[in-house]
Amino acid sequence: MFEPLKQVPPDAILGLIAEHANDPREQKIDLGVGVYRDAAGETPVLEVIKAAEQRLIDTQDSKAYIGSAGDAGFNRRMQALTFAGSAPDDRLATLQAPGGSGSLRVAASLILRARSDATVWVSDPTWANHVPLLGGAGLKLEPYPYYDAERNSLRIDAMLETLRGAPKGDIVLLHACCHNPSGLDPDASEWRAIGDVIVERELVPFIDMAYQGFARDIDADAFAIRDLAARVPEMIVSNSCSKNFGLYRDRVGSLSLLTADAASRDIVRSQANNVVRTIYSVPPDHGAAAVRIVLEDEALEAQWLEELGAMRSRLGAMRSLLHDALADKAPDHDFSHLLRATGMFCFLGVSEDRVERLKRDFGVYMVGSSRINVAGITESNVGYLADSIAAVL
Ligand code: LMR
Repeated sequence: MFEPLKQVPPDAILGLIAEHANDPREQKIDLGVGVYRDAAGETPVLEVIKAAEQRLIDTQDSKAYIGSAGDAGFNRRMQALTFAGSAPDDRLATLQAPGGSGSLRVAASLILRARSDATVWVSDPTWANHVPLLGGAGLKLEPYPYYDAERNSLRIDAMLETLRGAPKGDIVLLHACCHNPSGLDPDASEWRAIGDVIVERELVPFIDMAYQGFARDIDADAFAIRDLAARVPEMIVSNSCSKNFGLYRDRVGSLSLLTADAASRDIVRSQANNVVRTIYSVPPDHGAAAVRIVLEDEALEAQWLEELGAMRSRLGAMRSLLHDALADKAPDHDFSHLLRATGMFCFLGVSEDRVERLKRDFGVYMVGSSRINVAGITESNVGYLADSIAAVL
């Protein structure tokens, strides 16, 4: 039966985890997969999550099924964190999902059920797994211009022009903040202009928010969602708690659906629950329950925001550190775009063969597009990193 199957090459992002782990060089640096690292290069469990997990262990009295939509308290809190009252509750349905990817997959099936002929417009470039995940589920995808690799800036005019040409009812996938892979987001007036086209063309926004709290803060990072929620009849939002709660392997996320009215909200929710039942039946509980405990407790929530703020500050500091080291070691090259990006990622802006040389000759790992995760930078490796980059330029 399995004979026709061919070997699949390692995943462009996840494949780097094993490659880096198997590299015996002491000076190796991992700027690959989007995982936060502290100054010691570790990804510890957040203190607030440890506290919530302890409380969960002490109080949880059953692990019986709780249904396809998951934990109702978690869903309520995630909805508030995302929309903050920008859309009426009776037009919103939120379901717990197994991470951002699980949420995207459920959304894909729902879109196919509702409008199988619609095209989903995705940014060029976008997260390396958006196209395989959504396209693999059966959706028709088209790119819209987003990032100018020559100027390291947004192609906002070209983006708007492409979206203006999209047929009514098509779906536009947007990154709420910390665009993956470029790290460059529209500013408030650019978001307004994108919203204008969405409203004018009657497009459906589909927003992926995997890094809420990593650009500026919880509220500012949800600006696009909240602004659009007040202006459009329908919207899809996928959230991930992988990064902002550090729950990567526990698979915690949510899917929110904004519908035109309360009656359609109930229908859409029933369809989404049915999609879940046919894929994974019910979402995993543990991580979402820990998030609920954090968000339901004022003191724990404050502690979470503090830990999140510390992660955000470190990312900003490491960006500046690399920028300054490169200004020193490679003064003929402009790396100022590093300072304009937010979140974990930006492009280094070097060719794929230079990315390969950085890996082969220096043990510096990044995605082939030259996307770097600045969380992999530390005070002690930045000198070696800048030397390595300067050597291949
Ligand atoms: C990334 O972009 O590196 C992360 O979102 C991890 C992943 O699943 O690709």
